[in-house]
Amino acid sequence: MAQFRLPENSRVVEGRVHHSPSADARKLVIYRFSPGDDNPRRDTYYVDPKDCSPMVLDALIKVKDEVDPTLTFRRSCREGVCGSCAMNIDGRNTLACTKRMDEISGEIRIYPLPHMRVLKDLVTDLTVFFQHYHSIKPWLHSEKSNDGREHLQTPEERKKLTGLHDCILCACCSTSCPSFWWNGDKYLGPAALLQAYRWLVDNRDSKKKERLEFLADSFKLYRCHTIMNCAQACPKGLNPAKAIAEIKKMIVLG
Ligand code: SF4
Ligand code: SF4
Ligand code: FES
Repeated sequence: MAQFRLPENSRVVEGRVHHSPSADARKLVIYRFSPGDDNPRRDTYYVDPKDCSPMVLDALIKVKDEVDPTLTFRRSCREGVCGSCAMNIDGRNTLACTKRMDEISGEIRIYPLPHMRVLKDLVTDLTVFFQHYHSIKPWLHSEKSNDGREHLQTPEERKKLTGLHDCILCACCSTSCPSFWWNGDKYLGPAALLQAYRWLVDNRDSKKKERLEFLADSFKLYRCHTIMNCAQACPKGLNPAKAIAEIKKMIVLG
C-alpha cells in the first residue's frame, strides 16, 4: 500500500458518499484535499461503465463533468504520452488514461502520487521532480563541428537510446522509490537518472565526463539501493534501475 504525505497533524477521514446511478455502477473512492482543509477525506462516487469509456480517467472526467466539478486532477493527451494523469490507482502508481477499470476488482481507490505534497485532490507538487530533471541538463551538448549539417547516428548508436527517450516524465517511478521518499531533496530519483543515462549514451553528446562528474555523488546517485520499485511502476515498461546500474558502472570504469 502506498504511503501518503499528509498535511501536518491530519488524518484521512471518510467524506461524502454520492448517489449510485445503477446496480452495475463501479464504486470510486477518491482522495480529496483542498488548501485550508483540516483533514483530507475520501469521497465516494459511482460510475456505470455502460455510460462511460473504459479507462479510470474516463470515469474521473465523467464524475467531474456530471457529478462534482470541484474534483481536481491533471490530464491532457488521454493517450499515455503526456504523463500528466499519473496517480495512485488500486495501490499502484500508473496513468489513469491507460488503466482500465475492468482490470480492478471491487472498489477503485484513487489517490495522488505517494509522498508528494498535495496541492489539491489528485494534483501533487512536482517542482522538485522537475528541478532534478533540469539539473542533469537534458539537452545535447555538442562541440563537434559538422559544417552546419546534422549530427549523424548509425542504427546501432540510435538503438542505444531506445527504452530511454520513451520516458514521458510521469513521475510514477520516482514517487514509488523509497530512497526518493526519504531523500527526494538530494537524491535525483529514477526518472532524472534514466534521462541522465540517455544523454550519457548518446554518441552526439560531448559532455560525458562532466555529466559523470556531476552524478558521482553519494546523494544524487548512490541513494539508489536497487529496490526495483521504479521498474515495476513504470507504465511505459522502462527500467530506470538498469540505467542507474549502468551509470554506476561507467563511473567505476571511467
Ligand atoms: S532501484 Fe533505485 S531508483 Fe529504483 S526504486 Fe529502487 S532505489 Fe529507487
Ligand atoms: S521512467 Fe517510466 S515511470 Fe519514470 S518518469 Fe519515465 S515513463 Fe514515468
Ligand atoms: S492524459 Fe496524458 S498520459 Fe494520461
